[in-house]
Amino acid sequence: MIIALNNKSNLNKEAFLSYQEKLRGLEHTCQVILCPTYLNVNLFNLEGISLGAQNVSTEDPGAFTGEISAKDLKNSGVEYCIVGHSERRTYQRESLEEVHKKVVKLFENDITPILCIGETKEEREQGLVGSILKEEIETAISGLTEEQKARLIIAYEPIWSIGTGIIPTIEQITEVLTFIKSFLPNTTLLYGGSANEKNIDMLKECTLIEGYLLGGLSLKPEELQVFINKA
Ligand code: PGA
Repeated sequence: MIIALNNKSNLNKEAFLSYQEKLRGLEHTCQVILCPTYLNVNLFNLEGISLGAQNVSTEDPGAFTGEISAKDLKNSGVEYCIVGHSERRTYQRESLEEVHKKVVKLFENDITPILCIGETKEEREQGLVGSILKEEIETAISGLTEEQKARLIIAYEPIWSIGTGIIPTIEQITEVLTFIKSFLPNTTLLYGGSANEKNIDMLKECTLIEGYLLGGLSLKPEELQVFINKA
């Protein structure tokens, strides 16, 4: 079981340091991956928790103002990196090709990508879930070796569920994860989108879910502990 924590653009230096002290007391037997802001990556100092990042440059170190390369993330101890989060695809207009380049750069630097995929409410209503997800996955993984595909982590995050408090039904999640497993049988699958300590009892009925990507809940250590205990 993987629990990946996406702090998004939250927690300044002081807030992160006191948050980190609370996480130090987290009891868990699963694999916890903390993805803080870039600035907080170098403040990370926890045992028993892995370090992740939320984004990466498509390029190697060089003249790319404002970017952070996979090589530098690796140098700072980053082992995992979220890529293609819907917020970046929407607000930064991150393209399918950019997501692919990032996945490749991460593997080149021995960092495991956590690839986020998901459909909008409209796409679901129009019956486009399968084609949207297939396109997002196929472009991102093109050219990867079987070994890399097995190392890849995919987080299914319906865009209409992120930060809204609305979660899909178990049948909807099962349908999507079964679909992904049909062509990526060895890839680890996470669910993300409004997962919390109240709906975990329901979510865990879906046995295909191998872990969770948590946004809002990542910022609440007490509720997170309840979630982990139940999961
Ligand atoms: P949420 O975010 O848990 O706050 O819905 C999940 C995510 O965006 O990764």
